[in-house]
Amino acid sequence: MELPPEFEFNEARKDELPNLFSIWNIAFADYQVWKVIFKDSEHQKILPWIEKTFGARMKMDDIALWKITEVSSGKTVAWTGLRFPWKFRPSIMEEQKKTILAKDTPPTLERMNLDVFAVLGQALRAANRMGTNVLPGYQRMGFGQFLTKHCNEIADKSGSRTWIPASPNGSNMFQKMGFKQVAILDAHMERYGYDAATGKMYILLRDPFGS
Ligand SMILES: CC(C)(COP(=O)(O)OP(=O)(O)OC[C@H]1O[C@@H](n2cnc3c(N)ncnc32)[C@H](O)[C@@H]1OP(=O)(O)O)[C@@H](O)C(=O)NCCC(=O)NCCS
Repeated sequence: MELPPEFEFNEARKDELPNLFSIWNIAFADYQVWKVIFKDSEHQKILPWIEKTFGARMKMDDIALWKITEVSSGKTVAWTGLRFPWKFRPSIMEEQKKTILAKDTPPTLERMNLDVFAVLGQALRAANRMGTNVLPGYQRMGFGQFLTKHCNEIADKSGSRTWIPASPNGSNMFQKMGFKQVAILDAHMERYGYDAATGKMYILLRDPFGS
């Protein structure tokens, strides 16, 4: 699985997180669960809310980020993150561990749908892949699979399991890449006039190769 020559793959720096969060916000705009969560919120407040809710955690040393950039425009078109088991990241501080393990509810945005957000939050807590986001216009070009292959190779080298909470579209892609479905959470999107299938969040697990 090679990238086309017009694109390059690199580790992303933590100071690129504002741009990566904005890609996440754009990539998720058509995800029905996301639409219902933020239907009644002020849309210009969503990105600052994402930064506030996930920024501090994503900056910690146990998470590494990678991106795919379009060479001609310099635009980042896809990214992912992987959280490493702490035995491989001794630099993570005791103080940070306390923050990570605290069961505090994340801040909510005014008028967000808390019922659906609670299900998404439960799914996200299962994760050690920290998002896979491909900009519309660049989807279905193999970038999600490229990023996943990279993370799978790291997991194989260290003998680590990978957990992903996946949307229906993401779930299709991850199952092609060796992930197995171990649980399904349901946001019951039929309550909001959507097809029930759109509310399923798939908890996926991949065991390292040879385990
Ligand atoms: C889901 C996502 C990460 C997949 O990355 P991608 O680069 O588009 O996918 P790839 O080209 O590597 O792989 C394509 C496969 O992914 C799955 N897939 C991607 N987009 C899909 C869609 N809109 N509907 C159904 N399946 C889809 C399919 O299995 C597809 O294979 P196919 O084209 O043979 O049917 C990307 O489309 C995305 O960011 N979507 C919006 C945000 C999101 O849902 N993120 C995933 C959270 S788990």
